[in-house]
Amino acid sequence: MSGAVTVRVPAKVNVRLAVGAARPDGFHDLANVFLAVSLFDEVTATAADALTVTCEGPDAHRVPLDRGNLAARAAEMLAERAGLDPAVHLHIDKRIPVAGGMAGGSADGAAALLACDALWGLSTPRAELLDICAALGSDVPFSLVGGAALGTGRGELLTPVDAGTFHWVFAVADGGLSTPAVFREFDRLAAASGTEVPAPVAPPELLAALASGDPDALAATLANDLQPAALSLRPGLAGVLAAGADAGALAGLVSGSGPTTAFLVRDAEAAAKVAAGLDASGTCRATHVASGPAAGATVLPA
Ligand code: C5P
Repeated sequence: MSGAVTVRVPAKVNVRLAVGAARPDGFHDLANVFLAVSLFDEVTATAADALTVTCEGPDAHRVPLDRGNLAARAAEMLAERAGLDPAVHLHIDKRIPVAGGMAGGSADGAAALLACDALWGLSTPRAELLDICAALGSDVPFSLVGGAALGTGRGELLTPVDAGTFHWVFAVADGGLSTPAVFREFDRLAAASGTEVPAPVAPPELLAALASGDPDALAATLANDLQPAALSLRPGLAGVLAAGADAGALAGLVSGSGPTTAFLVRDAEAAAKVAAGLDASGTCRATHVASGPAAGATVLPA
């Protein structure tokens, strides 16, 4: 129980987020097609006297350092399962937008779990790690697994899917959006429309487009059922989507529950051009260029 273990973990974008009606437990059944992208946080676990969390990065001040941090909760849950004291220092190098709809908090939970498992020499079976991830949050199992996957249930039941390489630009908005608030707005809009919310499905043409690696085919089928709710709460996001289209993106959508917006582009060269256009538009705070699928949470060589 000495040394330090660093785990690198990717952000995600949802290329199809189909949302069903609210369940009795308050969650929503999803057909959630996740793609991990090459925008990474790193979590370093070091033996310590007590559980502590620190964070560095441009938005570090917006990351909770108490038990509200999924990295801390992951360490506690793993320690409890193993009958250990969660005596570990977790340092988060944060590059994924905070509260941005890119699973940044979930990523840190998955990374901390893997880092503590290695630090404490537990070799917890993968299936048990995935169970702990699901208990931490709906998106956390995907952060562990990475690549591309269909998430059903509340998003935690994963089936890997084939994916070619796709290039993206992410536009970071000022401030975050609360995921529960966006789901509540989804429910409000659904009730106001007076129509029944259909069961969520991942259409075959979307999965075929993802597997083909053809950006035009994927652009034609990208969709996020949470987008109207995110736009209702943050009307300014419409201007970011318009700026991305003007800059030459093949398609744009709100990432997960937002407010980060994701733009699919043809290649790395187009990504640089679209990012420059978005930066010049003044509609967003920052842009990031990334590609996917990216590997899930990975222990880095010491
Ligand atoms: O699972 P997680 O803790 O990340 O979910 C955060 C919140 O997002 C939930 O409390 C719920 O309000 C909403 N949510 C939902 N349906 C899902 C996933 C999340 O309503 N499938």
